[in-house]
Amino acid sequence: MAILLDSASVDDAAAAAALGFVHGITTNPALMARETTEPLAHLGRLLAAFPGGPICYQPTRTTYAQMNDEARAAAALAPERVVAKLPATLDAIKLAAALTDDGIRCALTAVYSPAQALLAHETGCVWIIPYVDRAARHADGGLTVVDSLAAILARLQSGTRILAASLKSAPQVVDAILHGAHDVTAPLEVLRSLPAHPLTESAVREFAAAWPEA
Ligand code: E4P
Repeated sequence: MAILLDSASVDDAAAAAALGFVHGITTNPALMARETTEPLAHLGRLLAAFPGGPICYQPTRTTYAQMNDEARAAAALAPERVVAKLPATLDAIKLAAALTDDGIRCALTAVYSPAQALLAHETGCVWIIPYVDRAARHADGGLTVVDSLAAILARLQSGTRILAASLKSAPQVVDAILHGAHDVTAPLEVLRSLPAHPLTESAVREFAAAWPEA
């Protein structure tokens, strides 16, 4: 299992690196737009702020040619670390096949159906990224989507992994794993909340009270 940070903030990236349990970063064009008008230069800053592990970069433009140029430029910045994150459309799946052939790792994002997972498997994507909380707000149901993706990838004995995203709380992170996600990505505040439990906190207060400051 791997835990990733879902953010394009350089401060968040540095804070996540310091946590010691964060494996990499996912960004998306909306997160990027909050931080910068120069996404590729900003990717360079994220790579520096988070010194090891994958960074999933999603092109900000949407035609095949634009996504192709931007994904290749992003991957060229750090070929071992950048994963091209592409939405699960027909054009982007065609692009994932071409990039994978050229040795660029790809992830299919905004995944909501087993048919999309099938194509991620066929094109050699390293991850599919279902949006759990967004799905929960629609008829599909959030974790039902993860169930069906896990079932089809298991049936295919696929090397493609499920990276659950759009996770808004610690219980949602745990549920995603229990329903078959291999990995998770979440905002910094959700990652920081993972160990929180009132009984842990009261135990810590009790231990501290046993050793008052002199
Ligand atoms: C995943 O990589 C996305 O950045 C993200 O999790 C999308 O979902 P959200 O906007 O609901 O958080």
